[in-house]
Amino acid sequence: MSIKIGIIGAGGMARYHVAGFRSAGAEVLAFCDPSPEARKRAADTFGVAETYASLPEMLKARPEIEAVSIITPNKFHSPLAVEALAAGRHVFCEKPPALNAAEVGRMKAAAEASGRHLVFDFNNRARPESQAMMEYIKSGEVGHINSARAVWSRRSGIPGFGGWFTTKKLSGGGPVIDLLHMLDLALWFMGYPEATWVLAGAFHDFMDNPGFKGPWGIPDVKGGKTDVESACHGFVSFATGQVLSLQSSWAEFVERETVSVTFQGQQAGGCVERLFGVDGLDETSVDRCELYTLEHGRHVNRRIVVPADESMGRLSAAANFVKLIRGEAEALNRPIEALRLMAIVDALYASAASGAPAKVSV
Ligand SMILES: NC(=O)c1ccc[n+]([C@@H]2O[C@H](COP(=O)([O-])OP(=O)(O)OC[C@H]3O[C@@H](n4cnc5c(N)ncnc54)[C@H](O)[C@@H]3O)[C@@H](O)[C@H]2O)c1
Repeated sequence: MSIKIGIIGAGGMARYHVAGFRSAGAEVLAFCDPSPEARKRAADTFGVAETYASLPEMLKARPEIEAVSIITPNKFHSPLAVEALAAGRHVFCEKPPALNAAEVGRMKAAAEASGRHLVFDFNNRARPESQAMMEYIKSGEVGHINSARAVWSRRSGIPGFGGWFTTKKLSGGGPVIDLLHMLDLALWFMGYPEATWVLAGAFHDFMDNPGFKGPWGIPDVKGGKTDVESACHGFVSFATGQVLSLQSSWAEFVERETVSVTFQGQQAGGCVERLFGVDGLDETSVDRCELYTLEHGRHVNRRIVVPADESMGRLSAAANFVKLIRGEAEALNRPIEALRLMAIVDALYASAASGAPAKVSV
């Protein structure tokens, strides 16, 4: 019997979830979304005839749904996940896990109480580059990782003006929270240590300048809010003595969009990186997965060759959730990691607001 899934939120990201779930043999039974237009679009696009206005309606009509995926604006992640877990459903939730660590704490507690899976869509961990790099780290070839640098910086990548992405009470913040994939990836490579202190600065330039708007066609909302940061630079220290630096931006004068984790291990350094081309993923874009080592007294750069994945792991991450439920795969991530990640995000915002170091508390 195939796993039966209900999708919560029929917006831009739904196509990756549907395709990923189906590729692993799951059945997408229904969508729920308060927007009639989004429901109709999903029904037409994905051939899923059943759509509902809310989660309770969907679960009442289709009690056989075993799992849900949450693809809504960030504000709704935590309450919807807690509701679905309490109703006995496994949950695959889009990133960021929630608005802050306190909300993730409630999600984690709900998962523990229900005994159901709670997995977040940190799809960059599912990229072939990341999976390959993790094998080298696990094999001991890299050694203890002292430090890492996590970068997701865009030159013109503000996702519209006045929509939910730029409204703090709906999104939780700007690029720090939206582009937290590289912070998660770096922490995963480092063994997800507990952070102690954060020092950060956030900037709010260009947030009304159409020259810095992203190319995805997300419409501006007249009269909407644009009260989140456009860029943040930070430094994180850990109880283990490890350190991490972070650059996260929607709008900065950088050469090109860079999505990258570099790290320094005691036996090898490494880099997983995508440099976007002038037109996104064109012939000028560069995917890098490299190890830097000393072999037979010589410095060596090892290029790890992996298949290209244009979806950046999104399809594999959704497929992993289905395999996890069937008992065929390990979870791509664990709630405790989401909690540690969001505690760092909270501290980045606290430090940026106060101008002083912020203690990280989970
Ligand atoms: N993993 C990735 O690479 C990636 C990329 C883009 C977006 N995302 C994440 O996916 C989520 C959704 O982003 P998007 O770009 O699809 O947004 P979107 O605005 O295109 O779609 C969101 C949908 O959620 C619906 N919605 C709002 N409240 C709801 C509720 N209570 N119940 C059900 N549906 C509700 C809206 O009507 C809308 O149709 C966000 O959390 C975002 O951060 C992840």
